[in-house]
Amino acid sequence: MKTYVDKETCIACGACGATAPDVFDFDDDGIAYNVMDDNQGTADIPEDLQDDVRDAADGCPTDSIKIEE
Ligand code: F3S
Repeated sequence: MKTYVDKETCIACGACGATAPDVFDFDDDGIAYNVMDDNQGTADIPEDLQDDVRDAADGCPTDSIKIEE
């Protein structure tokens, strides 16, 4: 699995960082990004974090978390 945040549509609600804190953090504007690959969507997400990423994507109010399985 790979993931990134569409920073154009993220509204900085903060939910993803609470749900998957090992994967998502926030820039100075509060916009989320994937810390594992600086939001490039190239890093393989470790298996034990994948459920958190899916939960974060499900919980994002703007569907800004993109997942490639
Ligand atoms: Fe942004 Fe969605 Fe996270 S709005 S802060 S990507 S939950």
